[in-house]
Amino acid sequence: MNQQLNIDDKRIDGKAVAAQLRRDIAGQVRARREAGLAPPGLAVVLVGEDPASKVYVGSKVKACAEAGFVSKTYRLEADTGEAELLALIDGLNADAEIHGILVQLPLPPQIDVQAVIERIDPAKDVDGFHPYNLGRLAGKAPTLRPCTPYGCMRLLKNAGVDCVGKKAVVIGASNIVGRPVALELLLERATVTVCHSKTVNLADEVAQADIVIAAVGIPGFIKGKWIKPGAVVIDVGINRLESGKLAGDVEYDSAQLRASKITPVPGGVGPMTIACLLQNTLEACEAVEASLLH
Ligand code: GUN
Repeated sequence: MNQQLNIDDKRIDGKAVAAQLRRDIAGQVRARREAGLAPPGLAVVLVGEDPASKVYVGSKVKACAEAGFVSKTYRLEADTGEAELLALIDGLNADAEIHGILVQLPLPPQIDVQAVIERIDPAKDVDGFHPYNLGRLAGKAPTLRPCTPYGCMRLLKNAGVDCVGKKAVVIGASNIVGRPVALELLLERATVTVCHSKTVNLADEVAQADIVIAAVGIPGFIKGKWIKPGAVVIDVGINRLESGKLAGDVEYDSAQLRASKITPVPGGVGPMTIACLLQNTLEACEAVEASLLH
């Protein structure tokens, strides 16, 4: 087998896995319409002008259209007050056409992020950030789950990685990725270590990992030589370099020499986040119907 084939065998193709999931979802939405059921509806709220957030919101809205969802986009000024945003959320909570509400983070400093997250009806919290949904995940009874961690787990599953009894090391302890992905790995019965900026001897922690999940937001922070031979590496980082190119948190070229499987950036976890958002919105929509039947 030549070197090129070897590399392709290792590469976890998130773009392809996400495209397949999106096709599956679009098929389910078509079947819903044929059965006379309403399409899933997602509301996307963007406050301010953060350039990366604008790109992400644009991608989410486009993905909705391609899957046959209804989507409503709300673009609010950077100086919007918290009360105005909370009032918008109240309206969306009461809107029967909307099954999912996504408020893009980060929010401007005058708005209390936690207050916003907690105002969203947990049944419409397609980001999975509400304490109810996080608590359900922590309590081994997941409901709506955070999209990026959900995407990481789907990639592991798709790549045939069995987490049971494996040592998983998560680098990054954020609410969006690190903490919830640790709960997901625990649910799959891995032995989980969460590392963060105060971790002593990060290299030694990473060197013991069968599964590495990197979510720090610093390009090339995880060195290839730290990776245990045969480890599975999931790189959540999407960092824009000065050259304009995108890079992950892991030194890809040196890490792929040691890893048995590894996600590239771009084309790894990124596309899965959006696909899982659609999946969550479809699940939220179906849950409404299930509750009406009971
Ligand atoms: N900002 C970065 N990632 C996310 C995400 O998954 N959801 C939201 N709402 N904002 C984000």
